Amino acid sequence: PTQRTFVLLKPDAVRRGLVGAVLSRLEAKGLSIVAIQDRQVDGELADQHYAEHVERDFYPPLRTFITSGPSIAVIVEGDQAIDVVRTLVGATDGRKAAAGTIRGDYSLSNRENLVHASDSEESAAREIKLWFG
Ligand code: CMP
Repeated sequence: PTQRTFVLLKPDAVRRGLVGAVLSRLEAKGLSIVAIQDRQVDGELADQHYAEHVERDFYPPLRTFITSGPSIAVIVEGDQAIDVVRTLVGATDGRKAAAGTIRGDYSLSNRENLVHASDSEESAAREIKLWFG
């Protein structure tokens, strides 16, 4: 089925000039960008977006990172877009992500891993509402 998923190009992607490269990979796959917006994430939005992680040890530095500069928020659409985008993005830790994935090719970090992508239909719906209203 056609699905919509939420993708965030994090501040490291913007700082490193990889926005075009990441969006190109999504488009080349056949997915469509149906909404895009640049956002300076504040602490409140970070806490809402990462609600399931706020108590984790890794959260304080993640919060600092995600609020450290502009991000690009995107709604991506296509057949099975949620799983397809997760496959293109790769494993969380860029050092372990498979070559050929976005993180595997461009990230050497568990935190600064360039992109976030919704992991289920529920999180896609929640995140699209949170970021795009
Ligand atoms: P993301 O897919 O946005 O979901 C949660 C984020 O937390 C993850 O990408 C990483 O940026 C970060 N993260 C997850 N696990 C760790 C970890 N062990 N150490 C540092 N950052 C992490």
